[in-house]
Amino acid sequence: MAIIKTSPADKLTNEILVLGLSKNVAGEKNSRLMIHAGDIALSDYGVDSKKLVSMLLQLGATGAFDEVVKIPLQARVGSTDQKLIVFTGLGKTSETYSAELLRRAAGAATRELAGHKNADFFLPHNEVSELEAIAEGIHLGAYAFIQFRSVTQAKQKLPIKFATIVTSLKKDSHLKRALERADIVSNYVCEVRDLVNTPPSHLNPVSFSRHMKKLSSGLGVKLEILDEVQLRNKGYGGISSVGQGSSNPPRLFHVSYNPARAKKRFAFVGKGITFDSGGYALKPAAGMEDMKSDMSGAAAVIAATFAIAQLKLPVAVDAYACLAENMISGHATRPSDIITIYGGTTVEVLNPDAEGRLVLADGLVRAVEDGAENGGLDGIVDVATLTGAQIVALGTRTSAVMTNNQEFSNRFMEAAIVSGESFWPMPLPEELREGLNSPTADLANISIHRSTGRYGGMLIAGHFLKEFVPQTVPWLHLDIAGPALASEPHGYTHVGGTGVSVRSLVALVELDLSQGRKRAI
Ligand code: BES
Ligand code: MN
Ligand code: ZN
Repeated sequence: MAIIKTSPADKLTNEILVLGLSKNVAGEKNSRLMIHAGDIALSDYGVDSKKLVSMLLQLGATGAFDEVVKIPLQARVGSTDQKLIVFTGLGKTSETYSAELLRRAAGAATRELAGHKNADFFLPHNEVSELEAIAEGIHLGAYAFIQFRSVTQAKQKLPIKFATIVTSLKKDSHLKRALERADIVSNYVCEVRDLVNTPPSHLNPVSFSRHMKKLSSGLGVKLEILDEVQLRNKGYGGISSVGQGSSNPPRLFHVSYNPARAKKRFAFVGKGITFDSGGYALKPAAGMEDMKSDMSGAAAVIAATFAIAQLKLPVAVDAYACLAENMISGHATRPSDIITIYGGTTVEVLNPDAEGRLVLADGLVRAVEDGAENGGLDGIVDVATLTGAQIVALGTRTSAVMTNNQEFSNRFMEAAIVSGESFWPMPLPEELREGLNSPTADLANISIHRSTGRYGGMLIAGHFLKEFVPQTVPWLHLDIAGPALASEPHGYTHVGGTGVSVRSLVALVELDLSQGRKRAI
């Protein structure tokens, strides 16, 4: 995380200057590129933009999105000091650029600046919200996970520490709040990335809870942490059965943010499988390492709640991390075992690798119960790396949204667009529900149809979760299986944990508050 301030164009001191570069679609050879320098006088560096464009063309620059090109120049006319000018691609030349495009362009540049200390950034913007996106891009690009590198290696290529955003917007309370918000939200996104990147040798339900407890101090939130004995005694059969095969016991981590002036009440529930071996439906070795990311939903819901608390938003949020390690041993759940979810629903575990829905079912029932005790929920959102089918359907960068309430889903989609995270609505087709009817229990945890039961696997999982939320409570299920973990860097995204959904959850709450909707029930 960098420290970010703003500055007018004539007071730039950092060793690096980041500028936008776009592609002129109809341009002749030498006007194929457009440099966006705002009020910054490039002549101070001994070049005019024409000369720079020809240098860039010579280097093969195209202004394409995610392209970063560096050119060393004299720092001032007549001096021998070097200044590095970094061009970050904006795609086609346009009058305005979307906040997410700016966020990504800033992040792509920042990723390329690892090893340097500080930089000035100018990217074309007209509004505070766009400047905020640039700040988020810088923060999210300035990330490295070095905890497990030996000291000398870790010292190489640290992310930039200080950034200045060049702007002509006036310094007022809106600008200050925007920078603060970018700082807070990005910080929690990076916390999620850290947890996802932490290997299961160092992250289990107990250490996850300990870490989150530490992070919560000073935020004015209340915690409740149920251990394996309490979980068993109170009837949390989902979390207990998934966790029982492991020597690392399960936990339910519950955080309450309940400010006196709360206008709305939400609940978030996250899948927190700190490692998913598949249990007795053991996963193949190839790719099993990705299952350290199976706690991404839990980390995201807790981090989003901490962000909301730190932003002091007037909304009550209860977040539940359903934490377990899905392993094999003489104690592990067998295919055909029947378990009882919190609240009494029985489930035949046909496949112990469909474990996420089991822990979430406990969490959803508990969240609805707490919501009802507090006068009802305006919405409940679960977040989970739930199915491989999500990746088959939408690829690795777009998460799925399923719901029992179209209006709530529409509102979330609006919030996701503001946050810049890619989500897409998915249906819960009625005909897929029937496959979950077990011959021996209330529900089966996968479709009972042997040959066709894999089709629409993401939606069948959605149907399973829907059973645990009353129709009257607006509910969203976010399947982030692919987007939670990146295998290639792009924009502000680094390889590894992405922290996806934190920004959209915060934006959802903010949007809901700004629209002043009445409580649903
Ligand atoms: N954690 C996995 C889903 C997953 C797959 C997340 C790939 C991230 C990347 C989940 O617990 C799982 O194993 N799902 C099964 C469900 C099936 C048994 C119905 C799957 O998708 O294969
Ligand atoms: Mn699984
Ligand atoms: Zn899983």
